[in-house]
Amino acid sequence: MTISFKPLEHTSSERLEQIMGIEKQAFGKGALSEYVIVPMLRYGKVYAAVDEDDDPIACAYFMRDINEIGNAYLMSVAVLPVFRGKDVGTELLKYAFTHLKRFGITSIRLTVDPANFTALSVYREKLGFAVVENSKDEYGEGEDRLVMELALK
Ligand SMILES: CC(C)(COP(=O)(O)OP(=O)(O)OC[C@H]1O[C@@H](n2cnc3c(N)ncnc32)[C@H](O)[C@@H]1OP(=O)(O)O)[C@@H](O)C(=O)NCCC(=O)NCCS
Repeated sequence: MTISFKPLEHTSSERLEQIMGIEKQAFGKGALSEYVIVPMLRYGKVYAAVDEDDDPIACAYFMRDINEIGNAYLMSVAVLPVFRGKDVGTELLKYAFTHLKRFGITSIRLTVDPANFTALSVYREKLGFAVVENSKDEYGEGEDRLVMELALK
């Protein structure tokens, strides 16, 4: 199968359903809703991996950091379950980082559940992110997260 990568823009309701489906299969109740995804499409940056029919199989969502010029925050990244473990997530993020540089982005920050070993392996081992903070109760009681950062080359 041929997979390609591209930025997504504001889109049809059918495409919106597809990309919401990827989020839901990854995060269930914690998935980004249309009320976040649509503003991200319009005012942030959303990147997708698509199959040969142009159907999205993975998405990554970035917002510019207003408090730190040059930084972008990776709000979410998810790959459809059948495509996981095949490098799609890593390659999508590499594509996104290269594309974001043209907007003056020089660093990426994210938060990750310390128990999400797949995501940690992608961020730390495969992409070179470093832990910059261990944030207790980041998203409420018991919801600890690692804050990670990568300087783009
Ligand atoms: C995290 C995620 C985006 C990574 O995308 P991916 O395409 O699966 O990642 P890759 O294939 O590039 O790399 C995954 C690595 O984890 C390893 N891995 C370990 N357990 C795995 C599992 N259960 N599933 C997939 N990969 C696993 C793989 O072997 C691979 O490392 P390797 O290439 O050195 O062998 C994807 O797995 C996903 O959508 N997970 C659910 C949503 C999520 O947790 N998002 C991140 C929130 S911070």
